[in-house]
Amino acid sequence: MAPGTALSPGPAPALALALLLAAAARPAAASGLWALGGWAVGAGGGQRGRSPLPAFSKRRLGFAAGLECDLATNVVGQPLVRQQVVPAVREFLQNPHPAKPLVMSFHGSTGTGKTYVSSMLVRYLFQGGLQSPYVHQFSPIVHFPHAERLEQYKENLKHWIQGNLTNCGRSAFLFEEMDKMHPGLIDVIMPFLGPSWVVYGTNYRKAIFIFISNAGGELINKMTLDLWHAHKDREEISMQDLVPAISKAVFENPQSGFWKSGIINDSLIDFVVPFLPLKHHHVKQCVISELVQQGLEVRPGIVQEVADSIPYFPEEEKIFSSTGCKTVTSRISFFF
Ligand SMILES: Nc1ncnc2c1ncn2[C@@H]1O[C@H](COP(=O)(O)OP(=O)(O)OP(=O)(O)O)[C@@H](O)[C@H]1O
Ligand SMILES: [Mg+2]
Repeated sequence: MAPGTALSPGPAPALALALLLAAAARPAAASGLWALGGWAVGAGGGQRGRSPLPAFSKRRLGFAAGLECDLATNVVGQPLVRQQVVPAVREFLQNPHPAKPLVMSFHGSTGTGKTYVSSMLVRYLFQGGLQSPYVHQFSPIVHFPHAERLEQYKENLKHWIQGNLTNCGRSAFLFEEMDKMHPGLIDVIMPFLGPSWVVYGTNYRKAIFIFISNAGGELINKMTLDLWHAHKDREEISMQDLVPAISKAVFENPQSGFWKSGIINDSLIDFVVPFLPLKHHHVKQCVISELVQQGLEVRPGIVQEVADSIPYFPEEEKIFSSTGCKTVTSRISFFF
């Protein structure tokens, strides 16, 4: 969805709603491979048109292998993400009759790769990635900026999701910055996240929902730092401890879009995916990738300088990047 279009608050809510419904009712375009039953095999080489592929075809497995390689090659310092996201998506796609939509929630502090990974994922699923008409991205600041219009937003959001899922059950919905979402708004989509949502014979269990937020980031950072103090690997972080702690943190935080949310209460999130804070050597890897991408010479001195220019925490030990890799691109220009 183009931010600022149908869901953006306008002076005429009825018009906004009409636009929503009209957009939702648009016919499936050929660019939505997933929608048409075909699967994008790798980010570049998608299969076009309706696919007669059986559920366990090699092509679908090829998709997951491509995603796995891309994550392994391009996403640094997030082995837990790879371990969780790839099997989750693979299993979901292999199942022709999923019991419920795939619902994942990405948590972590800024610049750790949440948006990067979600974009990569939709690139593998849909031709055109984020630009696909079957990928719907929401940002509270863009789409739901005014608290006093909460009821209107609820109505719009529900219609938008219902309309688009009726049009194409294989759609993806990305909710960015969940921590800035008005509490109470997101619960309006609860019926779409569970196992029982079938309307007019349409099965809405094939959709993917991804929530993204910084909420829980401090908790993740603290647990990772504790491991470092205990001379353990960051990857040894206990998911059994972390996942309930993140859920509790977002549920109990009045600033969070998940505050007292039924989505948490009813355990509708299938995978809580923590993004760990990045260390100095991860930042260096980001700098190298960026230099290569920009066609610039990779000089070790520059790589070191750019990585050194980023703030690290905690204050004394300076172990983890405070901004992950987020500012790498903008900083590189200062060194050339
Ligand atoms: N783990 C990572 N591996 C490789 N590159 C990364 C990683 N994390 C971030 N980057 C780089 O930094 C940029 C910004 O990251 P991204 O937008 O995904 O951060 P974020 O976690 O969504 O942050 P925010 O919470 O502020 O939205 C990416 O486009 C990518 O170039
Ligand atoms: Mg982001």
